[in-house]
Amino acid sequence: MTTNFTLNGEAVASESDDETPLLWVLRDELGKTGTKYGCGIAQCGACTVWFDGAPIRSCVTPVSAAEGAAIETIEGLSPDRSHPVQRAWADLDVPQCGYCQSGQIMTAAALLADTPDPSDADIDAAMRGVLCRCGTYPRIRAAIKRAAELARAG
Ligand code: FES
Ligand code: FES
Repeated sequence: MTTNFTLNGEAVASESDDETPLLWVLRDELGKTGTKYGCGIAQCGACTVWFDGAPIRSCVTPVSAAEGAAIETIEGLSPDRSHPVQRAWADLDVPQCGYCQSGQIMTAAALLADTPDPSDADIDAAMRGVLCRCGTYPRIRAAIKRAAELARAG
């Protein structure tokens, strides 16, 4: 069945089977390859996208669940990498191999949308489930605080 939703603000239609993971629709059918496959079982966060503004694991979300929803991927965060989280990530050279980073950024951006001045505990709670085998966690925490400053400064 056709699934209709918006992707980064544009209307799209998927012809994939209802149970196809949204991750594969985004990557293989709609060409948004910034979102990564890590585990496929909701345990690593590499596949994180926004579903109506909230971060979800697209590897375990059937595309049919996205009917009528607003889906945002890393490609939609800003047209020119100007989102405060992207700027902070660049300022602090957060990525190492980079594989986990779109999931990290989408999770961090969702945190800041809800909590503009997060505490260490807020950051730990929001980011806990997004794994980085390169161990960039200290830079991620610092970059989230930097992004909050950038956002406040406009
Ligand atoms: S690939 Fe979805 S949580 Fe790991
Ligand atoms: S930067 Fe390599 S897995 Fe996170």
